Amino acid sequence: MLSQERAPLFEALVRHIAGNPAQLHVPGHGQGRVLPEDFRRLGKGGLFALDLTELPGLDDLHNPVGPLARAQELAAALYGADRSFFLVNGSTVGIGALLLAAVGQGEVILPRNAHSSFLGGLVLSGADPVFVYPETIPGFGLDCGVAPAAIEQALVKHPAAAAVFALHPNYYGVAGDLAGQARSARRAGKPLLVDEAHGAHLRFHPDLPADAMSEGAAASVQSTHKLGGSLTQTSLLHLKGGLVDAGAVAAALRLLETTSPSYILLASLDLARQQLALKGRELLERALELARGLRRRLARIRGLRLLGPEDLPQGNYSLDPTKLVISVRGLGLTGFQVRDLLAHRYRVYVEMADACHVVAFVTIGTAERDCRMLGDALADLAVREKGLPGSPLPELPGTCKKLMKPREAWFSSTRRVALAEAAGRICAETVAVYPPGIPAVYPGEEITPEIVNYLTTIRELKLPCQGPSDSTLKTLKVVIE
Ligand SMILES: Cc1ncc(COP(=O)(O)O)c(C=O)c1O
Repeated sequence: MLSQERAPLFEALVRHIAGNPAQLHVPGHGQGRVLPEDFRRLGKGGLFALDLTELPGLDDLHNPVGPLARAQELAAALYGADRSFFLVNGSTVGIGALLLAAVGQGEVILPRNAHSSFLGGLVLSGADPVFVYPETIPGFGLDCGVAPAAIEQALVKHPAAAAVFALHPNYYGVAGDLAGQARSARRAGKPLLVDEAHGAHLRFHPDLPADAMSEGAAASVQSTHKLGGSLTQTSLLHLKGGLVDAGAVAAALRLLETTSPSYILLASLDLARQQLALKGRELLERALELARGLRRRLARIRGLRLLGPEDLPQGNYSLDPTKLVISVRGLGLTGFQVRDLLAHRYRVYVEMADACHVVAFVTIGTAERDCRMLGDALADLAVREKGLPGSPLPELPGTCKKLMKPREAWFSSTRRVALAEAAGRICAETVAVYPPGIPAVYPGEEITPEIVNYLTTIRELKLPCQGPSDSTLKTLKVVIE
């Protein structure tokens, strides 16, 4: 009988160290004994003693038969999956494993606002992305979801596509019609794979958008570390319904993931699952209450506008109310400026910013004081700061033209050209303002004049980017044709 009261992996670790074993194995710090004193003080509670490896009784992530297998079974039962995998390299590795296992070198329908973590999986697998475009939210310029009709059209044009990937919800907490997307994919006999990096908590409260396993997905990858309460780098990959071969996923994970997974990370997943099972509803009720209070307070501050359900276009769209998307356009400042002022002047750190917004997450770990400090800071900032309305707002280029698969471009002979002279060439790298990490251009796509303009603005505004080998963005790597 599965009991959500148990945490088999964590219990096995505690049993192991309680036996005070002699340690003649890695890791070499010997339960923290040889770590620098300052660092050791941080681990006073015995954390370092749990940094163990695949010892007898502690199981093996790549061939689990003991406590790890039971811990994964509990996760599967909790999330309504047939099988769940613990991951120690974030959702990035889960997305890569799904691309390798369920797509291979074939086509995959992919939302254009997919996170840059897809690039690794696309290059390694040789998958060919067929981009579909999400609807946008008028007045906010944010993406919401891809309409099921757009998925159907893409599947008619690309009947050989191996799978459909969805993003649910996106970084801003906007959820689309996932059930509709799952139906469209199922009708065509294709698995719906879901990047649910921002959805580990959804299943535990009815006021949140429904989770991927409930909406008919064949697979989903969740960053438990983001919103589920486990340590950074830990994620879950769930499978349901047999359209994705579990053996192929396990093989892909063996290929991509370390052979030395951290048991501290793995045990934190086990414990996060246990906590969500036993107290998830209660913890989320509290987080939602805090988020509602903060939303009410921020809505009264002149110059701020909060994204709400009333702003969403027609269709089955919904919002995760624990994410506060705050438009700061009315202050005449960019989101980046507000984020930096919050951090440096008020010691308030939000999850992310873009040109027009700052985004605050209220999680199960957020305290009332955090919300109060953000409210106080924004109220003060709104009075003190007089920005210039109409500051430059770079828009992501609207469409793209793929001339090669990402893998082909990645492995082509390349050279560097000045950004100003890059138009018309095939890009050999990716550039994404981070966060939110949506690539403006993928390897294999034509660099259009629109992209050159966008990247020039990004460079002038000194926005943080991931992907380009020349971080100054003076040059871009292009394919030698
Ligand atoms: C939408 C989305 N997908 C995937 C990822 C990658 O997740 P992880 O950091 O767990 O590897 C992120 C990370 O921010 C994300 O925002």
